[in-house]
Amino acid sequence: MKLLLLGSGGREHALAWKIAQSPKIEKLYIAPGNAGTASVGENVDIKADDFDGIAQLVIDREIDMVVVGPEDPLVKGIYDYFKGHSLLRNIPVIGPSRAGAQLEGSKDFAKGFMKRHGIPTAAYATFDGEHVEEGCRFLETLAPPYVLKADGLCAGKGVLIVPTLDEAKKELRGMLAGKFGGASSRVVIEEFLSGIECSVFVLTDGRDYKVLPEAKDYKRVGEGDTGPNTGGMGSVSPVPFVDAAWMQKVNDEIIRPTVKGLAAEGLDYRGFIFFGLINCQGQPKVIEYNCRMGDPETEVIMLRLKSDIVDLFEGVATGTIGTKRVELDPRAAVCVMCVSGGYPGAYGKGYPVSGTDNITDSVLFHAGTTVGKDGRVVTSGGRVIAVSSYGTSLADALQKSMEGAGRVEFEKKYFRTDIGLDLK
Ligand code: AMP
Ligand code: GLY
Repeated sequence: MKLLLLGSGGREHALAWKIAQSPKIEKLYIAPGNAGTASVGENVDIKADDFDGIAQLVIDREIDMVVVGPEDPLVKGIYDYFKGHSLLRNIPVIGPSRAGAQLEGSKDFAKGFMKRHGIPTAAYATFDGEHVEEGCRFLETLAPPYVLKADGLCAGKGVLIVPTLDEAKKELRGMLAGKFGGASSRVVIEEFLSGIECSVFVLTDGRDYKVLPEAKDYKRVGEGDTGPNTGGMGSVSPVPFVDAAWMQKVNDEIIRPTVKGLAAEGLDYRGFIFFGLINCQGQPKVIEYNCRMGDPETEVIMLRLKSDIVDLFEGVATGTIGTKRVELDPRAAVCVMCVSGGYPGAYGKGYPVSGTDNITDSVLFHAGTTVGKDGRVVTSGGRVIAVSSYGTSLADALQKSMEGAGRVEFEKKYFRTDIGLDLK
């Protein structure tokens, strides 16, 4: 089979690494990919949301399946574009329709969906620019801290958690006045939940589903979960507090009602569902849905998934996911992200990357790299290389990933040394 993967980050290198191991794969293309994906397939210089360019590529290279890494093309409707194209309607796209992707594309839609299907989540209300005062009054009914979410996609920056009522009202006014552009023309205000977070992923064919290994990501830039939020500084799998009883609740109260709800509402959904969960005194609740895999969660999950991922994708495409088996590697996996100094604030780009060749105890997934004019690999983003390792325990896997991260070289490299150490 010829498969095209869309995207260019660490998640996509991890997916490409796993896809390339499948005996079913004759040729793997990645658009646009990065310096890492070029080592497991062929990069094609087309943006992940250039639908016409992608269509032409699929036709020219006789591609049999398209797997979508990031949310943007999904929310913009790449699934529907293929379904509506006379030459492409039979090419499976792994990812939901535009309507299904609203689970991620609109926080208000996701909250309404959970309410309609009785799925546990934080209490909420949504306000637009014509109801600012009602929004302020709703804030007065809540206890601090206050959670404000831009309704639309904001590249992970649209959630504010503020300590005082005055600040919350000020932020609400700012958001509704366009702080995040059109994405915050509606704002979801939520009850604050406290507990440990964890991400659960499933692959669904719209009727049935298979659960992939759970993971936890570390978003803050600094040791001990301090400093500003990033795209993710590391991840672990498994997550020690996730036991069979808790997963049973997640299945019964969250995953199954979500998949049934999608079908009941006629939302065409064949792809990944990412459940961002929080454990509130033993009760799992949904913090958010995403319509794609997580980054950097994928960089540990792909290590733990033993089954052929292309076989699972075929199950999604043909409505037979229920007949597939998901086999897991029992070892722990930890990912440590090497980032460029200054990130998530201003940072430099174009620094040569070296030291990556002789790291045998870890798998390196490129996140923000590109091949420079002279053929050398250089940095092109804040998150540069994810170092993932197996271990007999999370601490053992962390040790290996830190050793690997220590050997990767580029100017102003930084990584956290405490990924997973908070979990017992
Ligand atoms: P989201 O983009 O919805 O995942 O929100 C980003 C982060 O904000 C989450 O990963 C949580 O850490 C935090 N967060 C979101 N909603 C809540 C909530 N209702 N209570 C506590 N923390 C939250
Ligand atoms: N790691 C969180 C995300 O991918 O959104």
